[in-house]
Amino acid sequence: MRLFVALDLPDAARAAIEEWGRRELRDPALRRVPAENLHVTLVFLGAVAEGDVGRLEGVVEEVGASSSAAPIALGAVVPRPAGRRPRLFALEADSPASVGIQARLAARLAAAGLHEPEERPFWPHVTVARVRAEGGGRRRPAPIERHPGDPPAALGRPFEAVRLTLYRSQLQSRGARYIPLAQVELPRGGRQ
Ligand code: 2AM
Repeated sequence: MRLFVALDLPDAARAAIEEWGRRELRDPALRRVPAENLHVTLVFLGAVAEGDVGRLEGVVEEVGASSSAAPIALGAVVPRPAGRRPRLFALEADSPASVGIQARLAARLAAAGLHEPEERPFWPHVTVARVRAEGGGRRRPAPIERHPGDPPAALGRPFEAVRLTLYRSQLQSRGARYIPLAQVELPRGGRQ
């Protein structure tokens, strides 16, 4: 099973990203991420043995139960990797609270032997589009002619991610389908 843990965005933020994306993510080489798939990935677990899923659910529930809703302010749209052939476009997410939840989650997963911490630092972001392959037997990303313009200022005003979710990712020809396996609502206004 291909699994990952993410912070879910509130519906209003996802709708605003989708509306902006319909205007700006117009290059034919781009595949927009549908609103229901927009999130901040905290830990990508990759292939997980079925026997480990119960323990993973337990860690996500435990970390969620000791966390509060995470304020997030979205920033510029950036290509990754930077340069002429990005594979994806993402909105940068300014969110110290998400960084804290990610650090506690990664540490708990590592202590339980369920995940090896990544060497590169956590980059809080929301992937909004992936770049199609060039085609003609070549797998490198197609070139982008029309760079997307930045999202509206409203998305830079902090909103709260209110749910921590363990997802199963099913890759399909039409794109990925994300199925929640465990979800924890994060209380607003802080929990000590
Ligand atoms: P992304 O938002 O940065 O693209 C499900 O595929 C989620 O896991 C995606 O949202 C993606 O994060 C992340 N993901 C997929 N493959 C990954 C990989 N090889 N390494 C890290 N994260 C990955």
